[in-house]
Amino acid sequence: MSAIQPHGGTLINRVEEAEERHELLAKAAGLPSIPINNWTVSDLDLIGVGAFSPLTGFMNEDDYLSVVDTMRLKSGLVWSIPITLAVTADQAADLSVGKQAALVGETDGVLYGIIDIESIYTVDKRREAVQVFKTDDTEHPGVVKLFDRPDTYVGGPIRVLNRPKPEKFGEFYFEPSETRRLFAEKGWRTIVGFQTRNPVHRAHEYIQKSAMEIVDALFLNPLVGETKSDDVPANVRMKSYLALLENYYPKDRVFLGVFPAAMRYAGPREAIFHAMVRKNYGCTHFIVGRDHAGVGDYYGTYEAQDLLRSFPPEDLGITPLFFEHSFFCTKCGNMASSKTCPHDKEDHLTLSGTKVRALLRDGICPPPEFSRPEVAKILIEGMAEASKSYAI
Ligand code: ADX
Repeated sequence: MSAIQPHGGTLINRVEEAEERHELLAKAAGLPSIPINNWTVSDLDLIGVGAFSPLTGFMNEDDYLSVVDTMRLKSGLVWSIPITLAVTADQAADLSVGKQAALVGETDGVLYGIIDIESIYTVDKRREAVQVFKTDDTEHPGVVKLFDRPDTYVGGPIRVLNRPKPEKFGEFYFEPSETRRLFAEKGWRTIVGFQTRNPVHRAHEYIQKSAMEIVDALFLNPLVGETKSDDVPANVRMKSYLALLENYYPKDRVFLGVFPAAMRYAGPREAIFHAMVRKNYGCTHFIVGRDHAGVGDYYGTYEAQDLLRSFPPEDLGITPLFFEHSFFCTKCGNMASSKTCPHDKEDHLTLSGTKVRALLRDGICPPPEFSRPEVAKILIEGMAEASKSYAI
């Protein structure tokens, strides 16, 4: 059985172990250090384990410009999101091309890795914002993050020396080499990846199960890296996924593993990125529903789907499965979309985020046609614990 090829043909592994690692750890003590925030720690680690194959490090200027302008690396491979290392002008003054630097967690002081510096360059962040996020509006959560960073980037291959340790749910962290091996061991030939930053409500369940009718298995791969503050915290979501899988999914056809990346909210471009990464984890198919990775009204409902369609299938190398906006129809008596339901909007159960939040805050489960009671219960508990209210 031949597994799907990683993006670019080779699964990258830049995690150093044993003697090599010890030598580099000793060497790093004498190097200039670059402080990296949690977002960059997760990018570094995902490069290291090959989730971002074919990237072997933070992007050099030529790849960066090519990605920003054309959604391809300079090699021609599809890649839609810049993966970059930003430094302040003061930090840059200590660095030189051809030398190395230590990458150190700014909050915990952990030496996470080393970079071989190949380029130091200044970027036009407004241009990056408009190309990647299609807006330079500072209300956009991805744009805010971008504008908060310095505008000098350092590019070059990295080596990972220490891996970030998850506080909770560590058993659901898998490297792409592990998911690939596990999928093969289970005898799955077609696997559909599902990205989410939300609890799995009935609409999500509907599109997952529709996909499961045509593939061997589902890889439920929630993003658990940095999200905006009003998204449901990953720990609460993980509890809700486990309750859902326990009660409503066949155990032998679903695999839960987290995607520890930061959420960019880049809509269409992020959908491409999400698909490439899931290919690296071993998925053959990838679900893209309505407003994938979107936020507010920045992107059209099916813009992510249109963008994916605009690439030749062989350049993507993973099959996207597109789903229309789904809902429960009271006349049909089941989940549906405009592709399958002839009834009017009034017959469709739609609840705004605000309404669902208000119900949960009052300890009331939304209707089971919107959310499974087991999931709603966990969200109510999570909401009661959190001092602030987040989007559901
Ligand atoms: S995302 O930012 O991770 O895309 P979310 O967790 O809400 O947000 O969505 C996960 C996936 O489900 C995405 O592919 C999204 O397009 C899809 N999706 C979410 N809600 C619906 C819906 N009601 N109908 C169809 N697809 C949906």
